[in-house]
Amino acid sequence: MIVGIDKIAFFTSPYYIDMTDLANARGEDPNKYLIGIGQQKQSVIPPTQDVVTLAANAADEILDEADKQAIDMVIFGTESGIDQSKSAAIYVQSLLGIGKSARSFEIKQACYGATAGIQMAFDHVTQHPKSKVLVLAADIARYGLNTPGEVTQGGGAVAMLITAQPDILALDGQSAFYSDDIMDFWRPAYRREALVDGHYSTDVYIDFFNRTWNQYQAQTNRHLDDFKAIAFHLPFTKMGLKALRSVVHDHPSAVGLLEQFEFSRQYNALVGNLYTGSLYLSLLSLLANSDDLKPGDRIGLFSYGSGAQGEFYSGKIIADLQSQKLAEPVNHLLNNRIKLTISEYEKMYQQGLPMNGRDYEFDITKDHNRFVLAGRKANRRL
Ligand code: HMG
Repeated sequence: MIVGIDKIAFFTSPYYIDMTDLANARGEDPNKYLIGIGQQKQSVIPPTQDVVTLAANAADEILDEADKQAIDMVIFGTESGIDQSKSAAIYVQSLLGIGKSARSFEIKQACYGATAGIQMAFDHVTQHPKSKVLVLAADIARYGLNTPGEVTQGGGAVAMLITAQPDILALDGQSAFYSDDIMDFWRPAYRREALVDGHYSTDVYIDFFNRTWNQYQAQTNRHLDDFKAIAFHLPFTKMGLKALRSVVHDHPSAVGLLEQFEFSRQYNALVGNLYTGSLYLSLLSLLANSDDLKPGDRIGLFSYGSGAQGEFYSGKIIADLQSQKLAEPVNHLLNNRIKLTISEYEKMYQQGLPMNGRDYEFDITKDHNRFVLAGRKANRRL
């Protein structure tokens, strides 16, 4: 039986900053951000959106009534959770009117959470072919103003429906994973901004990619020639390029894989890091933008979550992939955003619900999305 990704959607804020503006404001050469880091624009998340509303807005785009009744598991991967106890999945399940006969919960392991969700969904649907599982990946990446990580911020959500006989990607069911206790990036519960050992984190990422890729090859006897493309977790798009270059060298498949990589980073370069959703935005970018994908083409996926967990797995393109249908909503969203000046962004960056729990109401008249965070009353989200 074939199990995999049947539907996929992306959502982000209507606001962005331009990386040339940010470089100028920070006294850096714009080419460092545009070429050295590989980012052109960055989503800026307003206080009226949190991971619950970001994910609900993404999932709303793909779920019909039949899906909502068939979903018996909602898995939410995030590292920007809004509650230490209650999962963001329960909120989204309720906002979208998904049936209550479902297991609904949150998974955390930095940017890796949604991949754990997909693997769990794959096993569940393989056991129960009539089931549908909603996997949500939503985050807001924050390092702080005027930090080296600032150029790698961003945010947004990807929603995926995992089913039998999927319409997009059939998962192979083989994967290689590796974890170790590493302090490359972390965010203690008392902080809104992540702590990071930046250069070290990029080395660990490449090391984990090489380990899982080698392990995957040994397990499956598949090699670079068996892949049309490899999609990466893209904390910034140059990161995936560095990882890909570390294995392709002058291999005959190098040209094709490097060409496909360019399609897979198009959307991420306009959004920035969205942690758990980053790999899946890159997959969507590849599917929506590549002019050369055929049914049966194998795609590799490398997931990395600091701390650290890596996983390499794969899937095959289904017949009749509707690239245009996947591209339209994302292009519409990204082409209709409002550009902020750097001082407007700095002001928005400081806004948010007060950390001391007091009641607060946002002005929501400017946020026209279906799901909006209106504030907080008596310690409950509005
Ligand atoms: P930095 O020290 O400011 O940058 O921080 P740099 O000096 O290393 O320069 C970056 C690149 O720009 C270099 O290229 C320069 O040569 C180049 P590279 O050698 O790396 O190929 N450069 C230029 N290129 C063209 N024209 C120029 C120019 N000047 C310089 N004029 C760093 C960069 C990524 C470390 C920083 O932004 C950071 O700390 N970011 C956050 C951490 C991060 O994203 N790590 C990624 C791996 S960990 C991960 O993926 C997990 C994560 O998503 C979290 C999770 O799992 O939850 C982060």
